[in-house]
Amino acid sequence: MLKRIAVLVSGGGTNLEALFAAQESGRIPHGEIVLVVSGTAGAYAVERAKSHGVSAVTLPRKELGQTGFEEALSNQLMDARVDLIVLAGFLSILSADFVSSWPDRIVNIHPSLIPAFCGKGFYGLHVHEAALARGVKVTGATVHLVNEIPDGGRILLQKAVEILPGDTAETLQHRVMEQAEWVLLPQAVEQLCEQLAQEERRGR
Ligand code: GAR
Repeated sequence: MLKRIAVLVSGGGTNLEALFAAQESGRIPHGEIVLVVSGTAGAYAVERAKSHGVSAVTLPRKELGQTGFEEALSNQLMDARVDLIVLAGFLSILSADFVSSWPDRIVNIHPSLIPAFCGKGFYGLHVHEAALARGVKVTGATVHLVNEIPDGGRILLQKAVEILPGDTAETLQHRVMEQAEWVLLPQAVEQLCEQLAQEERRGR
């Protein structure tokens, strides 16, 4: 049985697009994206989902509050019979309660080589600004499982990306996405779906 994937987003959704491209070219043979959830109103990622014919819902976290958002999210995930949650540029923090009810079933992509430049305040462009300010010569992206400590779960895949003279946070963000994020995330999602499918066959 194909594992059912929900993708949580907050903004542009280029990582979501990479997942669709992988699915449509047969690189996620053990999984299927069945739902996209945006935590912010007006996220372009929702348009991307619609253009690929996948259900998309917006649950505005700011209006709903953390508890209201997570209740609504849990209902959506249950209705769609989701097996795996992918945080693809989802920039809100999920509560420890929510995370502990999905053990080893939430995967996140972070735009640095964890443990560098991660934790509170490190999201989106801020991560690249911090890397440039520190003067590191190599950065990258990390795909990891999410546990109760944000950015603290088991690391699944990492890829290094060079920082070039004259880089701005924007040019660096784009290189990290192109060379690392869009490559790693579909690979990790397929790995996890295959593993879940195997466990199902063994009756776990
Ligand atoms: C990506 O660079 C992703 O790694 C980052 O936000 C961007 C969203 O892009 N995520 C984090 O910083 C998570 N801590 P996208 O919406 O185009 O996929």
